[in-house]
Amino acid sequence: MTKDTVTITDNRTNQTYTFPVVKGTIRAMDLRQIKTSPDDFGLMTYDPAFMNTASCQSSISFIDGELGILRYRGYPIETLAEHCTFLEVAYLLLFGELPTGAELKNWVHEITHHTMLHETTKQFMESFRYDAHPMGMLVSTVAALSTVYPEARDIDDPKNRLLQMKRLIGKMPSIAAMSYRHSLGFPYVYPDNDLSYTENFMNMLWKMVEPKYVADPVLARALDILFILHADHEQNCSANTMRSVGSAHTDPYLTTAASAAALAGPLHGGANEEVLKMLDAIGSKANVPAYLKKIKEGHGKLMGFGHRVYKNYDPRAKIIKWAAEQVFNVTGRNAKLDIALELERIALEDDYFVKRKLYPNVDFYSGIIYQAMGFKPEMFTVLFAIPRTAGWLAQWQEMLADSEQKIARPRQIYVGQNVREFLPIAQRASLVATEH
Ligand code: CMC
Repeated sequence: MTKDTVTITDNRTNQTYTFPVVKGTIRAMDLRQIKTSPDDFGLMTYDPAFMNTASCQSSISFIDGELGILRYRGYPIETLAEHCTFLEVAYLLLFGELPTGAELKNWVHEITHHTMLHETTKQFMESFRYDAHPMGMLVSTVAALSTVYPEARDIDDPKNRLLQMKRLIGKMPSIAAMSYRHSLGFPYVYPDNDLSYTENFMNMLWKMVEPKYVADPVLARALDILFILHADHEQNCSANTMRSVGSAHTDPYLTTAASAAALAGPLHGGANEEVLKMLDAIGSKANVPAYLKKIKEGHGKLMGFGHRVYKNYDPRAKIIKWAAEQVFNVTGRNAKLDIALELERIALEDDYFVKRKLYPNVDFYSGIIYQAMGFKPEMFTVLFAIPRTAGWLAQWQEMLADSEQKIARPRQIYVGQNVREFLPIAQRASLVATEH
């Protein structure tokens, strides 16, 4: 018998089964052979929240959670952050290789020429309430693009898919900037094709009456690095949403909107906004020990700490700490950094956090930088969604090209009522009379 197998004995029947082990996994479908009788459905696995289930094979990003390693297509995140632009990295994620000079030039040109929003999309955004949350605006507007580009439904045509992907990557910053200007009551600024991806985004955010917006190069580069760090992160909640919704062959705008909705949650990308609220609530370094005591007593979570996969320092958080210093040289130091550093220092020495391997994640420091740059906390998750769009689209493409993938449809363990008698409405007793 080959060594790369596992043998299971079913003690209910005394039967043994041998299954191949490939890349550290067994096929869940193999377990269906394990039956107590011919009528038995066969054994399933029960894995709420996918704690131990690989849902796909992927060659996009790689994480070693114990060692704190993140790579995109084999390149360490540190190298990409040091040497590349965000659009170069987006190309890498989507096409699998870094672009040549000519390929990059063409790619940047293509993305730059898809930054404009249709005027009806602009009008759509203008109808949001003055205080609408930018993430709600982003999710709804990305979904609304599906009505502007109905041909996007033809997901079987690779050329058509590529066009929609370019549109999405190009338009994300425009939608994000417009949601920001909307919340301030400022008119929308049209894209400027002379500028880089991040400079143009800054132009659409902050241009007022000057004829040409000139972004601070240090801030533009820092934002570009932050975009690189946020571009992909294997099968996280929103990437899983992208694959799951996309598996129904929904168009890429609606699918991306669904992923952005997943990202909005405070346990996922919404955590960066929550970190700032938390630092505000703590108020000063002196209050940190008391705050941590409350967390340890079970009152809430330390936002920006912990990760399903990283059981070591998140490598992105390290780079963000470095980028923060560059930004603060321009903007002045954000006072919240001292509270954050103190929080990290004490938490990393505390048994509660050490035992559970809780380290700062990407969201812990990003908000502090964004705030120093002039963003309101409500914008932070939108800033996460812009670059993550490249990762979502890479995951979507990979899923569509994978012949093993089908519509995502988990099984369940039914624990509800067995068949029972229907009662006409007049004969039904209220469960709890005072409820409803
Ligand atoms: N503060 C305090 N305790 C925590 C925290 C935290 N941030 N995170 C996990 N724990 C505890 C948790 O209570 C549990 O303790 P016990 O074993 O006593 O029940 C233990 O650590 C294991 O946690 P878990 O909930 O089983 O871990 P998970 O893998 O299901 O959750 C997480 C991962 C990221 C949702 C969680 O750590 C969390 O809620 N963190 C705060 C929110 C956050 O920063 N999210 C951003 C994630 S990274 C980037 C992104 O996705 O956007």
